[in-house]
Amino acid sequence: MDVKKSLRELAQKQDIFIGAAVDARSLQKDQKYSLLLAQEFNMITPENAMKFRYLHPERDQYNFYDADGIVGFAQRHKMKVRGHTLVWHKGTPKWVTKGKFTKKDLKQILHDYIKVVVGHFKGKLYAWDVLNEIIKGDGSEEESFWLDIFGEEYLSWIFQWAHEADPEAKLFYNEWGAEEINKKSDVVYALVKRILNNGVPIHGIGLQMHIGLGEPNMVEAVPKLDSLRKNMQRFSDLGLEIHITEMDVAIQGTKGTMVERLQAQAQTYADIFKTAMTVKNFKALVTWGLTDKYSWIPEYSGKPDAPLLIDENYTFKPAYYALKNVLEK
Ligand code: XIL
Repeated sequence: MDVKKSLRELAQKQDIFIGAAVDARSLQKDQKYSLLLAQEFNMITPENAMKFRYLHPERDQYNFYDADGIVGFAQRHKMKVRGHTLVWHKGTPKWVTKGKFTKKDLKQILHDYIKVVVGHFKGKLYAWDVLNEIIKGDGSEEESFWLDIFGEEYLSWIFQWAHEADPEAKLFYNEWGAEEINKKSDVVYALVKRILNNGVPIHGIGLQMHIGLGEPNMVEAVPKLDSLRKNMQRFSDLGLEIHITEMDVAIQGTKGTMVERLQAQAQTYADIFKTAMTVKNFKALVTWGLTDKYSWIPEYSGKPDAPLLIDENYTFKPAYYALKNVLEK
């Protein structure tokens, strides 16, 4: 293996983006963090800084400081940015959800929000996760503030508004648990096909890939590779770009020595990446965080974990080398 080459150099040769979700504070304060990020990755997703509740926390207040900082960093280091995420019920601030607005007002609020935010970053982002998480595991609709109010009709509005505000940005629908062929991905597939047929400008599908090796599992199990490939392929056949948008591989609940557990994790990263690389329109793999030190998984699950490519002391893990290995072949 060419140890001198960074992950991003190897990725670039294959015309692939390797990204990490980034926390604005760490980027501002932790020099080791920012150095590693710029050295190894060519794509960034703001982990929280571009969510509705951060960008527009009150009705009369917009706050672009953190998001602009991240975008500026990316530009200085020639990295692409995935905007995340315009319409997500969990990212919507209380002033909107509890504001007792009429349907007409809410449509206006959502329109203005998308226009202002997408317009603010116009020309600077590679992609936007326009829509995030609207389908449940059993294929039924997620209880979502926006979906409950407007029904499916609003899906075409939001992509259209985003497209008008930044015609260059690739517009994505991002989901969790829709990695393999299952009830959920079938519903997502049918939905995307339907809205594409109606002329809605949607350009990509994001598969989050929050997975874990342990049992019982608080995230998704590792997808079966053949099923993952077929699923990615069917979306790719619709002409959509495919991104793995939020990958982490939790190891809590796994057995063996730490060396064995990290090896198993590395194998999973490699298997998934290798499978994705066989799909024509696969273009990016983004991990949900840079280092285990700031991963969201321990907080989310209430248990310690180490799901990323770089450990809490900023040392590269077997998973990092495993991805490089895939890129070198
Ligand atoms: C998570 C962040 O990592 C946390 O810091 C935050 O407290 C909650 O949101 N799916 C998504 C991401 O689309 O936006 C979520 O990020 C993780 C699940």
